[in-house]
Amino acid sequence: MTQSTLKIGEMIKALGLEPHIEGGFFRRTYQSADENTVVIAGGLRHCMTSIFYLLTQDSPIGHFHLNQSDIVHYYHLGDPIQYTLIFPDGTLKTIVMGHDVLAGQCLQLHVPGGIWKASQVMQGAAGFGLISEAVTPGFDFADMEMGDRQKLGQQFPEHWALIEKLTRG
Ligand code: GUN
Repeated sequence: MTQSTLKIGEMIKALGLEPHIEGGFFRRTYQSADENTVVIAGGLRHCMTSIFYLLTQDSPIGHFHLNQSDIVHYYHLGDPIQYTLIFPDGTLKTIVMGHDVLAGQCLQLHVPGGIWKASQVMQGAAGFGLISEAVTPGFDFADMEMGDRQKLGQQFPEHWALIEKLTRG
């Protein structure tokens, strides 16, 4: 086990993170009070939920998935993280979250609901990238769809190489 793998293990423990179905690790840090809810088509949701989300050299990809809710991402620590977004009309956007704002990296990223999103931690000295997400209306698995490689590939054939790389086979 390398020094940085040990450190990352300690960080996962210190932050109380668990593996996420998308890849990477997470912990829900906040949900608005039970009486503070909103009604959406699918039912009742917390107004807002928040998580830590960590990508590491051993789990470097948050695979393509789509949330119905808006999500604001806040960059914290480590190596930059590259986000790949596919909009419903097929428009592709690549954004890098990181500390180097002068080089165009961003500290905050708003991803509206209804957009396919994947993330990858970039190669660097830290071996990890840590962000937080605020989700509104609050996260519920019923509002989230993991990307199916074949289905996404049929919908967006022009992005097949990315879809193949950033979905689970
Ligand atoms: N993605 C964004 N927020 C959440 C959350 O609260 N739980 C899970 N499992 N995934 C999320």
